[in-house]
Amino acid sequence: MAPVEDTAGAGIVAIGAYAPQHRMHNDEWAQYVDTSDVWIYPRTGIKTRHIAAAGESTAMVAARAGSLCLEAAGMDPADLRWVLVSTDTPEMWNPATACFVQAELGARRAVALDLTGGCSGFVAGLGLAEARARLREPVLLIGCEVLSQAMDWSDRSTAVLFGDGAGAALVMPREPGKPAFEIVNIYARTDGRDAGILGKPYGGTKNPLTPELVRDGHHHRIVMHGPYVFKNAVTKMADAALSSLEEAGLTLSDVDLVVPHQANQRIIDAVADRLKIPREKVFSNVEEYANTGSASIGIALAEAIEAGLIRPGQVVLTVAFGSGFSWAASVWRAAGVPPVRAELNRGAVLTKGVGT
Ligand code: UT7
Repeated sequence: MAPVEDTAGAGIVAIGAYAPQHRMHNDEWAQYVDTSDVWIYPRTGIKTRHIAAAGESTAMVAARAGSLCLEAAGMDPADLRWVLVSTDTPEMWNPATACFVQAELGARRAVALDLTGGCSGFVAGLGLAEARARLREPVLLIGCEVLSQAMDWSDRSTAVLFGDGAGAALVMPREPGKPAFEIVNIYARTDGRDAGILGKPYGGTKNPLTPELVRDGHHHRIVMHGPYVFKNAVTKMADAALSSLEEAGLTLSDVDLVVPHQANQRIIDAVADRLKIPREKVFSNVEEYANTGSASIGIALAEAIEAGLIRPGQVVLTVAFGSGFSWAASVWRAAGVPPVRAELNRGAVLTKGVGT
């Protein structure tokens, strides 16, 4: 490791984002389960989701976002010291998804580690990235999910909510004059007492898979108490936002744009209502991508920057909630706007999902 040397702080100096080519509309879900756009859209704000192609694994999706991020930064992958991948849909049990990403990128001097932090893993991971970047160790942080492979395509109450994709951030020590989102504060919490409420309980050491469990579809079972998750997401995201701002010495009136985790438009709206933030200050793209777990903030950030919604000098607040329960928020000051490369296939022709 490099010698310990503190700097003026750390920042996000480039963003990359990727979503697979296959776009699946709500209407297509009717082929798999008893559902419709009429049920899904009003309850979630979701119209489409991107679905990884057969053989397109988590590491491939993550590496694409990571590679785009490094291209945007003009950074040699060999200069990275850390590749952190936040995912709940890993490449395999072992080794870490980040190892495959590191190899694919050619980041040969980097330590590769995974974070399993649910939908808030990217924001919490930013805390770790920021701490290492302060020590002059460049970190590539990637949030990536291929949830289409993890979910039960016959369970309408969960499957219609999710999508695939990845977002990446290059976190470096701040350099005067170089555009970056200066990381002002990161606030992250977990309450493991609710660990059983949302997750994928089968296939680990607690509930090893047996032929009988696979036959009954448990290998794909996502457990979720929807209304309880909804309620906690709203209160905890609002609390995290206020706590992070307070620790940063700022208030909601200082915030120019909120980039929340994209789980459900109703959750986003309820958080905005609770905080009394006008809708135009809250970014949303859940309609296009659905809930992409720990990828959602990176993808949203890429689109918000590309849309010109973040300008130099502005304050950005990001906030997320997910399994664990875990929740996190972060406050950034735009010391310039970092470069973005995104391959989000937004206009891609709607195609049939790959299914189970
Ligand atoms: O990152 C965190 C990840 N999780 C979340 O964000 C989920 C948070 N929770 C939610 O977003 C909402 O609870 C849902 C969107 C999942 C559900 O909305 P809801 O208004 O709370 O509906 P519900 O769970 O109360 O279900 C109402 C009905 C049920 O039928 P019955 O029992 O009333 O006859 C469900 O079986 O809707 C039925 N249902 C569906 N019907 C058509 C559930 N899913 C579907 C579906 N299509 N896809």
